[in-house]
Amino acid sequence: MSMKIAFFDTKEYDIPAFENYGGRNGIEFKFYETKLDVDTVGLARGFDGVCVFVNDNVSSPVVDKLFDLGVKYIALRCAGYNNVDVKHCYKKLHVVRVPAYSPYAVAEHTMAMLLTSVRRIHKAYNRTREFNFSLNGLKGFDLHGKTVGVVGTGRIGSAFIDICRGFGMNILAYDKFPRENADFPYVTLDELFARSDVISLHIPLFEDTYHLIDREALKKLKKGVILLNTSRGALIDAEALVEGIKQRVIGGACLDVYEEESELFFEDYSGHIIEDDTLARLLSMPNVIVTSHQAFLTEEALANIAETTVENLCDLRDGKACQNELCYDCGSIDECKRTRRKRCF
Ligand code: NAI
Repeated sequence: MSMKIAFFDTKEYDIPAFENYGGRNGIEFKFYETKLDVDTVGLARGFDGVCVFVNDNVSSPVVDKLFDLGVKYIALRCAGYNNVDVKHCYKKLHVVRVPAYSPYAVAEHTMAMLLTSVRRIHKAYNRTREFNFSLNGLKGFDLHGKTVGVVGTGRIGSAFIDICRGFGMNILAYDKFPRENADFPYVTLDELFARSDVISLHIPLFEDTYHLIDREALKKLKKGVILLNTSRGALIDAEALVEGIKQRVIGGACLDVYEEESELFFEDYSGHIIEDDTLARLLSMPNVIVTSHQAFLTEEALANIAETTVENLCDLRDGKACQNELCYDCGSIDECKRTRRKRCF
């Protein structure tokens, strides 16, 4: 049975893998560059489902309109679903997501940023392109023997710990739900702050993790610490970060995510004046490296995202139980009615 899916917020790197897996499984994607929102939802007319990403807006009016248009499925091609009014979808549309696609992609990008920062590769790259072969100001430090504090020891944090071990770094970890039989020490967040030369964040953004690094936390950090964030921007209070760098408490910051990224990241604003003064200040600092939510972007991760999304859609089409369907009736995404009835509703 064939299935037609309207694909929103398309980037050119999305298309090959989705066409490949979709074509093999009878799923036809129509790629729209525009994001899904109340103004563009009409484009979904005549489709069985929509495929959306982190910045598409699937609020309740959009859900209602999709339902009126006869759309049955929302396939998120990402793990997070804060942009979908999941409760409102109950009894209207089934919602599926991709819980994991490549922890290595994100962990490796984190290490790439750390190495770039501590060995000043970003400066050296620009210099040699202008035939400036001076080494002044490029002095770095060995990672070997330094202490890295890893906040969050899930899939990505664990992969990052393995990489750091290969560099001969000492590991300290903090997690709200520590892993049993871990072969590295868990410490309190305060101890991790006080002892780490490098701190890397690998936890989700929740109410209790919002601004984990704020002005209070700055007071507890080891002077000169390198801060890495490839998780979610709002884990760090960006204005406090600017202060911390100006006070020389923070020796370097590597950010793949930023608190106010949704208006900027993924798009080309090179010809524009950026309104965000905090981001502009951070970008002006020689010890800050910013990438625009790029950590996931590997061939392998894109293939996994497309494969899982297509599998999710096939399960829905074929009436099978879909492990990656979000449940909105009982509020749980693990053990719930869905496991017994194959569907949330
Ligand atoms: P995961 O679910 O495998 O691990 C998250 C860890 O955080 C778990 O060990 C959990 O116990 C811990 N945790 C949860 N709440 C906590 C709290 N309140 N305080 C302390 N620890 C807490 O998630 P995974 O796959 O490792 O992803 C981590 C984060 O990476 C995601 O939440 C996401 O924000 C980010 N991410 C970033 C990407 C990028 O391209 N930059 C791509 C994919 C994920």
